[in-house]
Amino acid sequence: MLIRNGRVVTASESRMADVLVCGETILEVAAGISSHADELIDASGRLVIPGGIDPHVHFELPVGEITSSDDFFTGTRAAACGGTTCVIDFPTQERGHSMLEAIDQWHRKADGKACIDYGFHMIVTDLPPERVPEMRQVVEAGVSSFKLFTAYPDRLYVDDATLMRAMRGAAELGAPVLMHAENGIAIDEIVQRARRDGHREPAWHARTRPPALEAEAVFRSIAIAEVTDATLYIVHVSSAAALEPVRWAQARGLPVYAETCPQYLMLDDSLYDQPGFEGAKWVMTPALRKPSDQAALWAGIVDDAVQVIGTDHCPFWMKDKERGRDDFTCIPNGAPGIENRMALLYSEGVAAGRISEQRFVEITSTNAARLFGLFPRKGTIAPGTDADIVIFDSGREETISVDNPRTHHMQVDYNAYEGRRVRGFPEIVIARGRIVARDGEFTGIQGTGNFLKRN
Ligand code: URP
Ligand code: ZN
Ligand code: ZN
Repeated sequence: MLIRNGRVVTASESRMADVLVCGETILEVAAGISSHADELIDASGRLVIPGGIDPHVHFELPVGEITSSDDFFTGTRAAACGGTTCVIDFPTQERGHSMLEAIDQWHRKADGKACIDYGFHMIVTDLPPERVPEMRQVVEAGVSSFKLFTAYPDRLYVDDATLMRAMRGAAELGAPVLMHAENGIAIDEIVQRARRDGHREPAWHARTRPPALEAEAVFRSIAIAEVTDATLYIVHVSSAAALEPVRWAQARGLPVYAETCPQYLMLDDSLYDQPGFEGAKWVMTPALRKPSDQAALWAGIVDDAVQVIGTDHCPFWMKDKERGRDDFTCIPNGAPGIENRMALLYSEGVAAGRISEQRFVEITSTNAARLFGLFPRKGTIAPGTDADIVIFDSGREETISVDNPRTHHMQVDYNAYEGRRVRGFPEIVIARGRIVARDGEFTGIQGTGNFLKRN
């Protein structure tokens, strides 16, 4: 395949060049390549960028009796249509069970279904000292990062002793630790009080999870990472308050990184004030914040306090959200977003003049590859790397909608960005040399995504 006349944009350069792909791999990137090719793509007037990497997705995530509504096929299909060619999901250790069991379980979910490449981060829920050696086996299985929660006391929460053990174990293996940082114990106290006071509406999800309790958990995680020498990646940073300790740690030279998500940059908590049950669509954790928080997060993207944009894609059917119609604590947490990340970030980032095209590539692809052991195989356009490429039309406009077949393939009956106009759209999406989407239409094949054993 020869991609001609496009402007190749990577995290480090932007230049007119052709890209020659042989099989699944990029063979050459140079101006005026004259080789014969079976398939010619004219990328005149288009950007040629590395496929997006979304390092934070939840397909078929079990939450009580239900699961998130996208599985590894529908979720990766939506990702592909939106310009993402690689995702990382989260096997979840059941308390008292081996982490390796969870990895097997997640392989069974993904095998034969995913249509783009995927990796796993290991969610640790239970790590008595005798289980710490298992962490090495997890890394040897290609799952080279661990995730811990200080939220969700009844499900995923781990105490500080477990944080210490897990971070030390990860540090010894050179594996980064991802943190969902919110003080779940204190939040539960606020939630119970709100319920006693008779508050049941979706808006109370946000009112009971203040940014200060996100900031506190971020700071605590940083302290424990510092004393255990762990590399820390705070997932879905949502507030100005939570970014402050990240900046403080970075200024002291600690290996602390931050991810935020399009929803925290582009949506705010006024969405919860809509009448009826509408606000349930955005019941996610952390909750949506204020416009001032959005501004702080954009500033972090600009000055590199924030390195990665993931989505925390975790959709639920409205019929499942309905379980919490009479009690906000019963609304399953999470929202869809995987398909719209690239267009949203280009539109609000590059087209709106906040960031450069190279920074766009860095935060949507390259940095995730670097941090999670995939670089340079993924995350850039260079000879020898996987041919994960997006021909991106920076001028094309679309209106995101559950009813727009070019912007919504996610298996869920609403879109969190309904009606939002974006400028910039992935026109052709190539995953390991195969065209998997064209003009927002899926052209890939179920089961062709590979599990990525990460370094
Ligand atoms: O509300 C959310 N974010 N659900 C997914 C699980 C998590 O906390 O990341
Ligand atoms: Zn989370
Ligand atoms: Zn998540």
